[in-house]
Amino acid sequence: MEYRDGLNPFLRRWGRPGAAPRGQLRSSPPAPEKVIFQGGHRETVAERGQRWKPQGYAENASFVPELGRPLLDLLDPRAGERVLDVGCGNGTLTVELISRGALVVGVDASEAMVAAALSKGIDARVLDAYDLPFAAEFDAAFSNAALHWMRRDPDAVLRGIRRALRPNGRFVGEMGGPGNVASIRSALHDALRRRGVDPESVDPWYFPSVEEYRGRLERAGFRVERIEAFPRPTPLPTGMEGWLETFGGAYLNALPEGERPSAREEVIRSLRPTLCAPDGTWTAPYVRLRFRVHAVG
Ligand code: BEZ
Repeated sequence: MEYRDGLNPFLRRWGRPGAAPRGQLRSSPPAPEKVIFQGGHRETVAERGQRWKPQGYAENASFVPELGRPLLDLLDPRAGERVLDVGCGNGTLTVELISRGALVVGVDASEAMVAAALSKGIDARVLDAYDLPFAAEFDAAFSNAALHWMRRDPDAVLRGIRRALRPNGRFVGEMGGPGNVASIRSALHDALRRRGVDPESVDPWYFPSVEEYRGRLERAGFRVERIEAFPRPTPLPTGMEGWLETFGGAYLNALPEGERPSAREEVIRSLRPTLCAPDGTWTAPYVRLRFRVHAVG
């Protein structure tokens, strides 16, 4: 998420966290808190620190669309089908859907990422996935590596996707699954806790189990054809430094600016023995949750 004046509204609205009273974590506003800020997006504290930058994303996270390609085959879009891409980001995979003949609408909450998608000629729109406005307009929906950022209300997201689909429309998705990036998450939590910030109040990620997500899909009105979780160790092209720069904002930006470099260093140092090979290449312990479901009725 880009902030037009460069200020994190978390800090702007609540003030820079001061020293915590002895024995207490510095107070952050409660996680379910919602605010409205410039651009009209409603966000929780957990969502506010994450900033999406197309340039950094392309450098640090090119593997996200690359490794998401098998999902295109699972969707198997046909020429002329209308497809909704939820969390389209900069549109790398959306372009692939279009090249297979689908008529695609991409939606994403980040203005910067949608601008990057628009520059590729995609019909991309800045929309809140918790409040999708479509009704029985799409033959299929697609989502790669986006749903785990929608922790606030996963059911609202699924209901909106279900509503957007025509009867029996299919939905193919992949997201972080149980234990995804567990050691990284734990190192970030430790670094914040050590600095007196409650990590739970800023944790932006939702990595459900197969059973939990199957239940949510069914309750939202989908018939589950297949759903599975599997480990996918993921080499990081720019190491842990680049990964944290692109994905660690919700945690690191919850700290005062002066404390961020030491926290980042501490996280990298603690992960190096397990995630960095002797040749210096980093691999992150990704776990994927992948599914193909159909709108009932
Ligand atoms: C993921 O794709 O699983 C992911 C990426 C960044 C942060 C958390 C999860």
